[in-house]
Amino acid sequence: MDKTLIVTIDGPAGVGKSTMAKQLARHLSIPYLDTGAMFRSVAWKLGEGSWEWDEAKLGAALDGIEYGLSGTGEDSVLSLNGTAIGNEIRTEQVGMWASNIATLPVIRTFLKAAQQALGEKFSLVAEGRDMGTVVFPDAPCKFFLDASVDERAMRRFRQLVAMGKPADLEELKEQIARRDHQDRNRVVAPLKPADDATTIDTTEMTREQVLAALKEAVA
Ligand code: DC
Repeated sequence: MDKTLIVTIDGPAGVGKSTMAKQLARHLSIPYLDTGAMFRSVAWKLGEGSWEWDEAKLGAALDGIEYGLSGTGEDSVLSLNGTAIGNEIRTEQVGMWASNIATLPVIRTFLKAAQQALGEKFSLVAEGRDMGTVVFPDAPCKFFLDASVDERAMRRFRQLVAMGKPADLEELKEQIARRDHQDRNRVVAPLKPADDATTIDTTEMTREQVLAALKEAVA
C-alpha cells in the first residue's frame, strides 16, 4: 500500500481545530481524526475520578477499547468498539475530565498507539494537542492554530447559543483558561507547536480566511 498522507492541526481548546480539520479533510477527500474525541470517550467510559486510579486498573480498563474510523471530510465517523462516538462527550465537563486523564502516561501511550495505527491505515487530517510534536512527528504538513482566550470563549459562547444551549461567557473563559493551563503545562506531550509547524493566530481571522490559509499551505 502507498504511504498515507498525514496533515496535523494542533492548538488549544475552542480554537476551531475540528471545524478546520473537517473542511480541510473534505478538500483533500480523506478522513479527519478528532483525537480530543478519543480522550473524551475514554474519560466518559471510565468515568469521573478515573484519573486517580492506579496504572494496573487503568491498563485493565483500556484493554477492551478499540477505535475505528470510516468516511471522509465532515462525514468521518470515529467509533469506539463499533459504536459511533456521540454528542454525550461534547460538554465542558467531559472536556475537563479528558484533560485530566490526558496527563497520565498510561492513557497517552495507549491512545498514541491507536492514533498511529489509524494513521498507518488511512491518510488523515489529525487534530489535537500533540499530533505534530509526538504522534506524527514526520508528518509533511503541520499547523498550530491559536487565538486569545477571550476570542475562543466568545466562539464557544456563540456555538452554544446557536444550539439553544445555556451559556455563560465568564464561566466559559474560566473553563478554557483552566484547561489551557493544564494542557500546556503537563509533563507528557504538553500542548505546543512543533518546530516545523506553521502557526496561525486566528484571533482576527474569519473561518474562511483560516481555511484558505490551510488549503494554500497544503497545495
Ligand atoms: O480537543 P478537545 O477539547 O476535544 O480535547 C479534550 C482534551 O483532551 C484536551 O483538553 C486535552 C486532551 N487532548 C490531549 O491531551 N491530546 C490530544 N491530542 C487531544 C486532546
